[in-house]
Amino acid sequence: MTTSRISGFYNMTIEERRQKLADAAALTPPDLGAWTSGGISAEAADHMIENVVGMHSLPLGIALNFMVNGKDVLVPMTLEEPSVVAGASFMAKLARAGGGYQATTTDPLMIGQMQVINVTNLNEAKLKIYEKKAELLAEADSIDPILKKFGGGARDLEVRIFNDSPIGGFLVVHLIYDVRDAMGANAVNTACERLAPKIEAITGGKVHLRILSNLADRRIARARCTIPVKSLAFDNFSGEQVRDGIIAAYAFAAVDPYRAATHNKGIMNGVDSVVIATGNDWRAIEAGAHAYAVKNGHYTSLSTWGKDSEGNLVGTLEMPMAVGIVGGATKVHPAAQAAVKLMGVKTANELAEIIVSVGLAQNMAALRALATEGIQRGHMSLHARQVAIAAGASGDLVEKVAAQMVVEKVVRIDRAEEILKSL
Ligand code: MEV
Repeated sequence: MTTSRISGFYNMTIEERRQKLADAAALTPPDLGAWTSGGISAEAADHMIENVVGMHSLPLGIALNFMVNGKDVLVPMTLEEPSVVAGASFMAKLARAGGGYQATTTDPLMIGQMQVINVTNLNEAKLKIYEKKAELLAEADSIDPILKKFGGGARDLEVRIFNDSPIGGFLVVHLIYDVRDAMGANAVNTACERLAPKIEAITGGKVHLRILSNLADRRIARARCTIPVKSLAFDNFSGEQVRDGIIAAYAFAAVDPYRAATHNKGIMNGVDSVVIATGNDWRAIEAGAHAYAVKNGHYTSLSTWGKDSEGNLVGTLEMPMAVGIVGGATKVHPAAQAAVKLMGVKTANELAEIIVSVGLAQNMAALRALATEGIQRGHMSLHARQVAIAAGASGDLVEKVAAQMVVEKVVRIDRAEEILKSL
C-alpha cells in the first residue's frame, strides 16, 4: 500500500527523495532512471515531432499527502513555477483531516464533429440522419476492435443545425464515442472520417471538417473536499476567517471573468502539471477547461467554495478531463510511464479523478494565500533562492544567501551579491 505521507521529504537531497519514493511506491531503478535522465533520447524525440534538435527539460516534483477516494497517492507534477507543489501538498494535508478528496468521473465519452455543408434542406437532412442512426453507429462501432474489446465504441449520434453563419446554414453531426482508457483523439477522428461518405450519401451535402471537439463536456471529472474549519487556522488568522476569506475570494471569481481567468489559471497549475507528467495533451485540457467555464454564456469559476452545516469549508471542482493512459506520449515516454506507475492508476478515469483533486487543492492553496497573507510571502523564499543563484551562489550558500534576504525582506541581486561576498 502506497503512503503519500513522507515526513521530511522537503529537506532531503534529490537522491534521498528518490529512495523514499522507491520504497513508498515500489518503483524500480529503471522507473526512477527515466526521471534522472529526463526520459527520452534524442532519437526517440526525433520520432515524436519534426525537425528535432534537442530536448527541453522541466522540473518534476512530487506532491505529498493526497488521499483520493480513500486511497493514498503520490502525485508527480511537472512544471517550472515555484510554490505549486508545496501548495498542493499542504492543502492535501488539510483535506486529509476531512477524509481527503472524493472524486468521480462520467464514462469516458468524447465528441467527434462532422460539419455538413451544401445541404438543401437542413431540417430534412437532420431527420434523415436520425433515421439511419443505428446503421451509422454500427459502422462507427466496428472501426476500432481493440477499443471495442475493452468496452469502448460508438454510443450516440446527435445532429445540430446552425442557420446563421458566415457561409449560411449547415449541419453538425456529433458522434459520441466511448474511448475507455485512451485520450481518444485518434479513435474519434478516424471514426468521423469513416462515417463522412455515409453522411454525405444520406444528406446530399458535403462533409467538410471531421475532428474531435476539445469541449469534452461528456467526459467530466468532479472532486469535492471538506476542510474542518479548525484546521484552517494559522498565525493570527482564525479558521473562520480563513474559510470566509476563501469563500469571498471564490465569489469574486464567480461573478467577474477578469478574476475567473486567474482563479482558473491557479486550478490549471495543478491540473496541467499532472497532465504533463503523464505525457497527456495539456493544450486539449486547457481548451476544454476554459470552454467549459463559459458554458452558461458567462466565463466563471470552474470551482465552488462554501460551507457545510457544521461550518466546515467545502470545495468542489467540475471540468472536462480528456486524459488517457494507453496511447500517445503516455505510452512511449518512459518518464510518463513512471508517473502512471507511481500513482498506481489502472484506468484513465482514475487518473482523471486524481488530476481534478490536485486542481482543487491548488485552487485552495492560491485562495488561502490570497485571502490571508498575500501570495508574495510564500513565493519569496523560492524567489530568493533563484536570485541567490543568479548572484553566483552555489551549494550551501544558496540557502544561506536566500534566508538572509528573506529575513531582511530585500530580495534583490545587488543585495544577494553583497551577502555572498560577506559569507
Ligand atoms: C499563479 O500562478 C496562480 C494564482 O494567480 C492563482 C489565483 O490567483 O487564484 C495565484
